[in-house]
Amino acid sequence: MKKLILLLLFVMSQQLTKADEGMWMPLLISQNYEAMQRLGLRLTPEQIYSINNNSMKDAIVHFGGGCTGEIISDKGLLLTNHHCGYDAIATLSSVNQNYLMNGFMANSMEEELPAVGLSVKFLSRIEDVTDQVSKHIGNAYGKEVETKFEEIAKEIAKKANENGTYESEVKSFYAGNKYYLFVYQRFTDIRLVATPPENLGKFGGDTDNWMWPRHTCDFSMFRVYSNNDNKPAPYSKNNRPYIPKHHLPVSLKGVKDNDYAMIMGYPGRTTRYLTSYGVDLAINLSNPSVVKIRDKRLSIMREEMAKDPAVDLQYASSYAGIANYWKYFIGQTEQLKNLNILSQKQQEENEFERWARENKAYTRLMSDYQKAYAAYTPYAKHQTYYREAIMASSLTKLGASFENIEKAVDAEVSADSINKLCKRLKIAQSMILKNMNVELDKKVFAALNLMFYQDVPKAQHPDVYNNEVFKNFGDENWQQAFDQYADYVYNNTVLLDSAKMNEMCDADNIQTLLNDPAVVHALSVVKNYKTYYEPKINEFNYEMFELNRAYQGALLEKNKNKQMYPDANSTMRLSYGKVNSYAPKDAVFYNYYTLADGLLQKYKAGDKEFDLQPKIVDLLKNRDYGAYADKSLGGLVTCFITTNDITGGNSGSPVINGNGELIGCAFDGNWEAMSGDIAFDKRYKRTICADIRYILWVVDKVLDGRKLIDEMSVRY
Ligand code: ARG
Repeated sequence: MKKLILLLLFVMSQQLTKADEGMWMPLLISQNYEAMQRLGLRLTPEQIYSINNNSMKDAIVHFGGGCTGEIISDKGLLLTNHHCGYDAIATLSSVNQNYLMNGFMANSMEEELPAVGLSVKFLSRIEDVTDQVSKHIGNAYGKEVETKFEEIAKEIAKKANENGTYESEVKSFYAGNKYYLFVYQRFTDIRLVATPPENLGKFGGDTDNWMWPRHTCDFSMFRVYSNNDNKPAPYSKNNRPYIPKHHLPVSLKGVKDNDYAMIMGYPGRTTRYLTSYGVDLAINLSNPSVVKIRDKRLSIMREEMAKDPAVDLQYASSYAGIANYWKYFIGQTEQLKNLNILSQKQQEENEFERWARENKAYTRLMSDYQKAYAAYTPYAKHQTYYREAIMASSLTKLGASFENIEKAVDAEVSADSINKLCKRLKIAQSMILKNMNVELDKKVFAALNLMFYQDVPKAQHPDVYNNEVFKNFGDENWQQAFDQYADYVYNNTVLLDSAKMNEMCDADNIQTLLNDPAVVHALSVVKNYKTYYEPKINEFNYEMFELNRAYQGALLEKNKNKQMYPDANSTMRLSYGKVNSYAPKDAVFYNYYTLADGLLQKYKAGDKEFDLQPKIVDLLKNRDYGAYADKSLGGLVTCFITTNDITGGNSGSPVINGNGELIGCAFDGNWEAMSGDIAFDKRYKRTICADIRYILWVVDKVLDGRKLIDEMSVRY
């Protein structure tokens, strides 16, 4: 008997420590608090999220709209991922002063580099506004819900903004079953402080991306600047470092298997309540389409980038972003299949239908889902190809911006209005041309239009593939036809010439511009899509909104005694779990940490992904780890893994121990759980983190930035 109780207790404790799924709202932290304590948290809920006192949430920012950053000194020093700072670093670099390639360390605050266009948002407070929003929405349905929501959200946010002090937004949770207000302060004077050379910050490249074991030192550091009142202000030489309400202390003690770990940050998007119909579409249609298109696009980019270091730098950031989600969708499809997510979802839906029949409610929900997907499927490919293939050409994007002008001309507006629209177009043009290489863009245009032509049903094709000009090229050799067509468009357009555009874009010459081959092409594909297919896609989206609202509402009802977390939506979330090794497949064991020895094992001189600079190789060979070595593990810990539940947007998030100290910076997920955004797998899902000691070692030994470490609150 005693043995049985002990066994039961053991099983229970295993169950409890397994509960790491969930991106919880910090506002509701008391719900999870006991479970967090059991795992090893030693802070109070108030120390994590409070609106009256300074708390951990005050050290965590939404970085640049798509990432997370954390404040690690009382002078506004900010830590995030290298891949989050990547675009800013690339923009600040030139072929002759290539910080992306060589790394950067500001020797003083004067040397910190303003990252124009970059901003961060601090969260001031969260408020449940469900009653107010629901009342306003009332019994509205479909598109009307959107309109009503926008009305009330605008009103609530405006009030919360307090005349421009804050930037607020209302967000929907559980697909419109709950609404919360988020009040932020946005800082726009952000400066680059430090970045490792790319071969450390992106060590392993796309080969290692989304995979464990990992050795990437995926970090960069910025500083938040404010005016003399410690308030947000546009860039000025007179601004001074922002004094945060809270900054995270840094622990050099390191982590052990099963140690408590939590992550706060801004996960972007998950679809954990996606139905089997959605999974089926992803596996069989959407994901393979994205992968096929990106495969081609990336190979063209690689070829052109290799020809010229300037093009390489120009496209580095865009390449990394496209490649990141190319591999993501390969992994997601593979694991949706491996982990049988389709049948897992079908079982959940069967169970739901049983419950629905018993309760005599929602009985038609699943068949309505099925019908909606069946109606949408014939156009799904068109939607993906439009976004991924047609719009991959920058020239087409530029041409598409003539849509407004054409409408204005048709409406016979005044010459003045046309000239105003032209002015805006010229600005758009200069921005697009700056980031564009004509040869590369033309090859992408030819290859991806061909792909659209061959893969999207003929009945859905735009007129341009049948027009008189195109017929000059069209014969049975479609590849040649599209190459010739691309030559014709790119050689004859004036859109690539700012001087000519300047001369021609005005009320007098606008008709000539509307006959420009790039404009004709773009408007043909855009109008075809918007007239015939976008309405169908919108219809599907409104239908989905209603079905999801009903489904998640029903699940909240069905699970009212359990906790149910909402899908990620780029609002602050907290995930708690632990450091944990795992077994990816039969007979294989993955340890919870990697050592710098692995860097040398993977090192390949001259390789694009696995090269290291001589200075780094020397430091590693001499095992010159300074105070950052882990004595019990006998080396420099580079990365570790935890069971935390995160997704894209969490990149750069702080990994925090039970005492509220920073132990790492989260930067990736693992291959075996790539279906995680759709279904969390408790056995395999891990978060990959750069150990804070690895980061500090690079700052100190590689970048000679000892004084940055002195600025932090380091606990030995
Ligand atoms: N997979 C990482 C994420 O989405 C990004 C890693 C960037 N590195 C790369 N090799 N593309 O958070």
